[in-house]
Amino acid sequence: MKKEMFVAEPFRIKMVERIKLSSQEERERKIKEAHYNVFGLKFEDIYIDLLTDSGTSAMSDTQWAASMVGDESYAGSKSFSRLERAVKDVLGYKYVIPTHQGRAAENILFPTLVKRGNIVPFNQPFDTTEAHIRLSGGEPVDCVADIAYQPSAIHPFKGNIDVEKLESLVKKVGVDRIPLIMITITNNTGGGQPVSMNNLKSVSEIADKYHIPFWLDAARCVENAYFIQQKEEGYQDRSISEIVKEQFSYANGCTFSAKKDPMVNIGGFIALNNEKLYYKMLPRLITYEGFSTYGGQAGRDIECLAQSLYEMVDDAYVSNRVRQVEYLGRQIDDIGVPIVNPVGGHAIFIDAKAMLPHIPQSQFPACALANELYIEAGVRGVGLGAMVFAHKDKKTGEMIYPKAELMRIAIPRRVYTDRHMDVVAEGLTQVYNRRNKVRGLRIIYAPPVLRHFLSRLEPV
Ligand code: F0G
Repeated sequence: MKKEMFVAEPFRIKMVERIKLSSQEERERKIKEAHYNVFGLKFEDIYIDLLTDSGTSAMSDTQWAASMVGDESYAGSKSFSRLERAVKDVLGYKYVIPTHQGRAAENILFPTLVKRGNIVPFNQPFDTTEAHIRLSGGEPVDCVADIAYQPSAIHPFKGNIDVEKLESLVKKVGVDRIPLIMITITNNTGGGQPVSMNNLKSVSEIADKYHIPFWLDAARCVENAYFIQQKEEGYQDRSISEIVKEQFSYANGCTFSAKKDPMVNIGGFIALNNEKLYYKMLPRLITYEGFSTYGGQAGRDIECLAQSLYEMVDDAYVSNRVRQVEYLGRQIDDIGVPIVNPVGGHAIFIDAKAMLPHIPQSQFPACALANELYIEAGVRGVGLGAMVFAHKDKKTGEMIYPKAELMRIAIPRRVYTDRHMDVVAEGLTQVYNRRNKVRGLRIIYAPPVLRHFLSRLEPV
């Protein structure tokens, strides 16, 4: 285990935003008005917002400064040239397709590569990634190692693909039906769990053997690199920037939501080395996002993103960032709250099924837990379980529930202090102590797709 190099934050704060804590009675009213769905809560009703780490980070002085010199030329913007240079320097890819966020990159990559009836082996795709593969006529197949499904089992790289599962899938369905293999680093769906360098290397060898392209969903590639530096033999003395670049050297390209590790509030891109594929994707970029030198972003956003790519690979920043997530995770673990262990890079995932065994999955225990934490402490997390992933079996019409029923507390980067984390842990302690009284939820309205964002609920 590598020694922790940095104890306190490697930054000081020069702008703050007022937040306030309402009373518990007010919060009970607010969650009711939000129809017991945390997506309906407003900024002013929330004390500590841990709904997501996406687009919620605090930007640095140098990122803001870069925004001020963005070039808004429609074509040939100098900010785009800077982004190309940054992507080459930091990730090692020659071509960049700028998009407004990660899912827009998915909306360009998958329809270009995936045909009806195709299979995309994955560790575990994020929900928008899965949706775009399916909308293109394909089907993602989880090849993540089984240990990913055991929340309390300790393993340093629970995001890894099981290479035997992968190879037997390739043999079973045939190379012609597999347009690409994809790995997400870190594995958000599985609890922000990292993938080892060795696993990336092994998967790339299989991909080469069968001549299948290998791509990364790289939203949290820096946090992944940190775990490699800390836990994988041979990487202790390597810098984060070297490890990040090595990760990408095994893949043919990546989709990248820049709202995570690069700490911009909006943005994304595709990066790759294959010139032919780059030109094949451009018409779709121009149709859905914008011209090739701005895509879905303003010039100032692109300039800022270029700067961000250099800043995100700072060893001091990332070790301090993951340390804060661990700091909260350790406290929650100590209370006895069942969590996904080890703690991932961006969030704590609480096993709501284990904490609230009296609530069946049909009554959304992860959402019930998120609501209770909000009422208790003004902290907003999110339920990622039956509400998001349950679906009807096409043949039998029976409800199929996901294996995991997790409540996620995601930590924005550079936004909250450890004292805020203490408030979260204290709130969870109170909820844990009265967990037997927490009630499940039932749906009173749900849209046909993506119901977790818009559904209205009531306590059972
Ligand atoms: N891939 C991963 C692994 C993600 O976590 C996300 C978004 C995306 C792709 C899509 O990127 O939001 O920029 O369109 N995750 C967010 C979250 C929304 O809260 O985990 P996007």
